[in-house]
Amino acid sequence: MYRKLLISLCLIGLTSAAVTVDASQHCDCTELNQTDCALALSWCLWNTSDSECQEYSLGCSDLASQILCDAADSCKWNSGSCEDWDPSCSDGTTAALCNDIDDCYWNKSNACASFSACTDYSAENCPGSEWCTASSGSCAAYTFVTCSSFTTAATCLGYDTKTTRCAWANDNTCKSLGAVSACSDLNNFTNLCNASGSCVYEGSACRAEKCSDASSELTCNAISTGDTTYSLCSWANNACADAADTSAFTKDNCYARTFRNYKWSSDNKCVACDDLVDNDDMSNSVILGAFVLLALIA
Ligand SMILES: *[C@@H]1O[C@H](CO)[C@@H](O)[C@H](O)[C@H]1NC(C)=O
Ligand SMILES: *[C@@H]1O[C@H](CO)[C@@H](O)[C@H](O)[C@H]1NC(C)=O
Ligand SMILES: *[C@@H]1O[C@H](CO)[C@@H](O)[C@H](O)[C@H]1NC(C)=O
Ligand SMILES: *[C@@H]1O[C@H](CO)[C@@H](O)[C@H](O)[C@H]1NC(C)=O
Ligand SMILES: *[C@@H]1O[C@H](CO)[C@@H](O)[C@H](O)[C@H]1NC(C)=O
Repeated sequence: MYRKLLISLCLIGLTSAAVTVDASQHCDCTELNQTDCALALSWCLWNTSDSECQEYSLGCSDLASQILCDAADSCKWNSGSCEDWDPSCSDGTTAALCNDIDDCYWNKSNACASFSACTDYSAENCPGSEWCTASSGSCAAYTFVTCSSFTTAATCLGYDTKTTRCAWANDNTCKSLGAVSACSDLNNFTNLCNASGSCVYEGSACRAEKCSDASSELTCNAISTGDTTYSLCSWANNACADAADTSAFTKDNCYARTFRNYKWSSDNKCVACDDLVDNDDMSNSVILGAFVLLALIA
């Protein structure tokens, strides 16, 4: 009896669970139809000669023109061919080039170098990421504020440490707020809770949004459940609810609505892909802007 109850509880658990997907992965290219293949342009290309969706990976050396080569990150054109390129500060010979290189800054002596001190930079090239701010024409170290000294919501701004900032709380005081890891961290900050986009203030608490919070089909999509994971929603009977399965998805939205984890099958169903591939398996190939790729295959 007890065992039977447990089993039926499990079944209820199973049938009411929403479909979950991981947006950091995509269906293996070879499983995709032409329409879905076209939506996976970052990883897959449709081969017109044998009507198959193929995984592709390009390296700098595949880019045959200087324009394509220099448009791709970490490639550089060098005497007639495209080479891998890992720039260092000394490659930043102009302010614009320097600003494009990670952790390099253009200083007052017109040199590109790693960070030294805020006062070494002009207001135009003041490195905000290094806690410098440009004010009255010069670049200076950021001045941390004292949140409690602000008495209105409009003036409750800025950082009091590198990891905490000021936020206007429900008791009408300006408080220091650290990184928000759960909606409940915003229980005392109704306005921030509402503005977060992924939390909802209800009763006297801030909770994660649910499918049923969406009031239109357009906003009925998915709920973020982690860095890259989502729980899917679906629209039926004029309401948004957890998607128990993918039967409501169509040929045109199956792939996109499942964050590229499901495909449209030959028997016209939205089914889970047999193999999922990590999106960043491609990290050692050239990450190309879509326009570069389109120019390449045109
Ligand atoms: C397309 O498929 C054919 C046959 O499998 C193959 O020979 C050809 O190299 C493929 N084209 C590309 C661009 O990969
Ligand atoms: C700018 O960087 C160069 C190279 O590191 C350095 O020699 C120079 O002193 C720096 N100028 C200032 C104003 O910090
Ligand atoms: C919210 O505010 C109340 C009263 O001001 C306080 O007791 C409580 O600890 C605060 N909660 C959080 C999560 O900061
Ligand atoms: C936050 O949203 C709730 C529910 O939609 C609403 O009742 C409340 O007035 C909002 N509060 C603020 C400060 O925006
Ligand atoms: C793609 O679609 C065609 C025609 O609708 C179908 O025959 C084929 O099996 C589909 N391929 C896959 C992998 O679902």
